[in-house]
Amino acid sequence: MNQEINLPPAQIGTRYSTIEGVDDDDVRAIETRVVLEQGVEGSSAPPEVIACALMRDGSISTAELMQAAKERVVIREPRLHTFVPLYTTNHCDSECKMCAMRKSNDKLKRKFATKLEIEEQLRILYESEGVRGVGLLTGEYEGTFSRLANAFRVGWATRTALDMGFERVYFNIGSMQPDEIQALGEWIEPDEPVTMCVFQETYDRQKYVRFMGGGGPKTDYDQRLRSFDHWIDAGFRYVNPGVLVGLSDEETELVRLVSHVSHLARRGAIVDVSLPRLRPAQGLRNASGVPDDKYLRMLAIVAFVCPDQRLVFTTRESAEVQERAIDLCGVFSPGSPDVAPYRRGGRAQNDEETSQFLVADLRRPSEILSALEATGREVAHFVGAPEEWAAPAERGEVA
Ligand code: SAH
Ligand code: TRP
Ligand code: SF4
Repeated sequence: MNQEINLPPAQIGTRYSTIEGVDDDDVRAIETRVVLEQGVEGSSAPPEVIACALMRDGSISTAELMQAAKERVVIREPRLHTFVPLYTTNHCDSECKMCAMRKSNDKLKRKFATKLEIEEQLRILYESEGVRGVGLLTGEYEGTFSRLANAFRVGWATRTALDMGFERVYFNIGSMQPDEIQALGEWIEPDEPVTMCVFQETYDRQKYVRFMGGGGPKTDYDQRLRSFDHWIDAGFRYVNPGVLVGLSDEETELVRLVSHVSHLARRGAIVDVSLPRLRPAQGLRNASGVPDDKYLRMLAIVAFVCPDQRLVFTTRESAEVQERAIDLCGVFSPGSPDVAPYRRGGRAQNDEETSQFLVADLRRPSEILSALEATGREVAHFVGAPEEWAAPAERGEVA
């Protein structure tokens, strides 16, 4: 394994916090046409430099980039896997401007799912939607006790999901320090399929302050960035960084995200990558301002320069954009950012009154995943449709 894994945490943290831009001369030196044909393996340049060159080169169309990226990732096995998000509460002590869960938003109706409610939601996803991947979400909390209690609670939910037969659990609960990783980590073994998600949102420190700097635990950029280092130091290996597209300029975010991903991969981590686009939320119009073509270009470039990492795609995006992006992705995650929103045999709830934001596609996860499989794409962690979507011969298979 890579030497870096033996560096003391502080040193790694320092290195990670200096993710910076690329040198213009290095970018100009990239022969984009050659790279496009040979892939990143054929070049000695770092992936973030190649990404930057591809983003800038207007003579290469987005369609061409998408085609090249699809050819790189199509060979991956399994081609796709899935998880469905489960927000276990919408309480939060942070003040992110783009998010309806921010503490000062007194119009949001706060909810907290109990043990029995979480278990019931997991059963609905398992039995009625036929999925074997779940993502557990919460706000981010202030104060040692609340943070440890949240980590402990999400650890319990992770254990419960794994014991129930879920094959992959993502958790997305804000930054994590070593004591919190311990409180959560004691519920699992390091080699279990559990992925820590902490999206940096933006790698531009000024923009970070503008959107996340309004107070509360998420204001600390470096504490957030170091979360994966602590997780890897504790012996875990599944990580999911990301950028919230729409907060800062696309080129800078792309370059720094790719550089972060390649640092993590070099430390031996298995990396999924998220680039969610900003959505409207209660009282917030939140247009991302990034048009489809530019967004797809970013996705294509990440897929092309990081072919071993899986892009995560969600139902924040419409069915039409999903269709265009799906073959660039390695994880497709349908669902709703409302608290405990799933209903047996029905659509999920996504009420403005209680949701983090509003999604573009509220079809049932099983409906979307069945439709995907009907086009010949295999989706791991999806065992098949419940009765109403299944072919007659398959009925009765799902308990
Ligand atoms: N409280 C945790 C979990 C956040 S939910 C945390 O902040 O880390 C996961 C992601 O949803 C966030 O990291 C952010 O990238 C995204 N998000 C927040 N507000 C959004 C919005 N209005 N539209 C789309 N995505 C949003
Ligand atoms: N925000 C989390 C993520 O992007 C949770 C999530 C997964 C999600 N799939 C979703 C939110 C679909 C809304 C819709 O990983
Ligand atoms: Fe809280 Fe996360 Fe929303 Fe920020 S993005 S307000 S930390 S839930």
